[in-house]
Amino acid sequence: MESLVVINACMREESRTQRILDGVLAPLSKKYNVETVNMGELDCKWVNSDVLKERDNGYVPQLYVNLAKKVANADRLVIAAPFWDMSFPSVLKVFFENISLFNITFTSTQTECVGLCKAKKVLYITTRGMNIKTGDPLEQATPYIKALSKLWGLGELYVLSAENLDYSSDKEIESKVEAAIAQGVELCKTF
Ligand SMILES: Cc1cc2nc3c(=O)[nH]c(=O)nc-3n(C[C@H](O)[C@H](O)[C@H](O)COP(=O)(O)O)c2cc1C
Repeated sequence: MESLVVINACMREESRTQRILDGVLAPLSKKYNVETVNMGELDCKWVNSDVLKERDNGYVPQLYVNLAKKVANADRLVIAAPFWDMSFPSVLKVFFENISLFNITFTSTQTECVGLCKAKKVLYITTRGMNIKTGDPLEQATPYIKALSKLWGLGELYVLSAENLDYSSDKEIESKVEAAIAQGVELCKTF
């Protein structure tokens, strides 16, 4: 069976993003060997000057080497992250920086960077409090994930979102989450 790695940055116990993720993982786990990396369980430190010095000396913590290899070798990637401060939670960026490793997720020719990740398809799942749709210039998560996909050589990006949740009734929230799950389940037939 091919592998699918979930990068999960959902933080709240009652996370709506997590509910959509769970809904799509139900069919996906029949097709893929699913492994989840939970940002909440990782004690990810930001990449500071000490980390850079260690890298220059050829040392990278084994945890990040292993995670970078896991992500680089995955056949599919799913990123689940709530919309925070017009993007995704910073722990996810810190995670990406820690696992963006030379000769694992990308390499370089004489003239340019070349991605080394295998995943031909990436699914990004999010929920937003405000009425901001995917592709809105105020939405700064998707453009970043697209740019990182270029660096890492990832394939097509699919986005599954629900918006305006902080200004919707409980009933509306329920129907938006259910609609996103239904859309995701449909998408997963060809993912
Ligand atoms: C720390 C924090 C920052 C947020 N920033 C934004 C924001 O900039 N724009 C927005 O539309 N919603 C923002 N929200 C609202 C969330 O995007 C929204 O409630 C979302 O559904 C939360 O996802 P979750 O239920 O998976 O935790 C923020 C929420 C939190 C907790």
